Amino acid sequence: MRYNSCILAIESSCDDTSVAVIRGRRVLSNVVANQSVHVNYGGVVPELASRAHTQNIVPTMEAALEAAGVIAEELDGVAYTQGPGLMGSLHVGVSFAKSWAYAIGKPALPVHHMHAHILAHFLEPGDPPKLPFLCLTVSGGHTQLVKVKGPLNMEVIGTTRDDAAGEAFDKMAKLMGLPYPGGPEIDRLADNGNPNAFAFTRPSVEGLDMSFSGLKTQILHFLQRELHANPSFVAERKHDIAASVQHAILGILLSKLEAAVSATGILEVAIAGGVSANRGLRKELERRRDERGWTVHIPPMEYCTDNAAMIAMTGAIHFESGLRGEIADAPNPRLPF
Ligand code: KG4
Ligand code: ZN
Repeated sequence: MRYNSCILAIESSCDDTSVAVIRGRRVLSNVVANQSVHVNYGGVVPELASRAHTQNIVPTMEAALEAAGVIAEELDGVAYTQGPGLMGSLHVGVSFAKSWAYAIGKPALPVHHMHAHILAHFLEPGDPPKLPFLCLTVSGGHTQLVKVKGPLNMEVIGTTRDDAAGEAFDKMAKLMGLPYPGGPEIDRLADNGNPNAFAFTRPSVEGLDMSFSGLKTQILHFLQRELHANPSFVAERKHDIAASVQHAILGILLSKLEAAVSATGILEVAIAGGVSANRGLRKELERRRDERGWTVHIPPMEYCTDNAAMIAMTGAIHFESGLRGEIADAPNPRLPF
């Protein structure tokens, strides 16, 4: 595949408004407007998220075009996240992207958010993984083991039966009284903690599927028991608790990733999605590269959490393959993989 199109992309599936411009595989700009309105609520409030997208989208797009030094006429297409995500949030990005594409006479390119997390690996500065590769995609809403046979040919070979890995991080953090989103907080605290301070049992789920809800209940009961004996337990041991919780979540993810490597014989392994920013996960992957000969692909931090550069890369692959959206394409919170 040749990569030389110039694509602008809009991402608005959850609580970040992002606009990016890429040429080929090179990111010319990737502007992310984080929404701070949700911090006080301990989670994303969908109604507030869509309102903030409406406020942010025009200035974010102006900033992205200016930073890229690109004008509308130079673009080959306008990519946007069609789903999955929050209906109201998606609606803002989808309507805006399609209207603007129509106004400037360029094709609109609908993109699946989870394909895009994986295809972030095709962005420079790295080289795209060799095909086929395995990708562990771990975000706030999804946990998937994906066999990538081609950029447009992917198969989910394992998934969570309940909570997503990012959701597990966020829920455990909430139990510990940490602010939202809890994943980065646990990551930070775990750095100075002992991962073996407290042991939690791993759920037994057959095959390549995963489960995190049992772990959440286990940790809830553990904290209740300890706090009953010592009301300052969490405050006194927060580093050790965070490290042990992280160790338990990563244990589930890594055991299934290893099982996927054994089952497929594929040693080319990537991680993607918000949780791939986790330093513990990144370190564990590097260890498997050194000890087991895996070729590992770890995205740069800015392409782990939600960003429009990954949407642009996916849009570019669609464009180069001759795929185009329809004017009737609608946001789909449950867009099938
Ligand atoms: O991919 P993403 O930005 O949004 C979704 O598509 O869901 O993922 C967000 C998730 C949140 O659950 C957040 O807590 C988690 O990624 N996350 C992390 C870290 N950074 C973000 N989890 C663990 N460690 C991190 N460093
Ligand atoms: Zn995401």
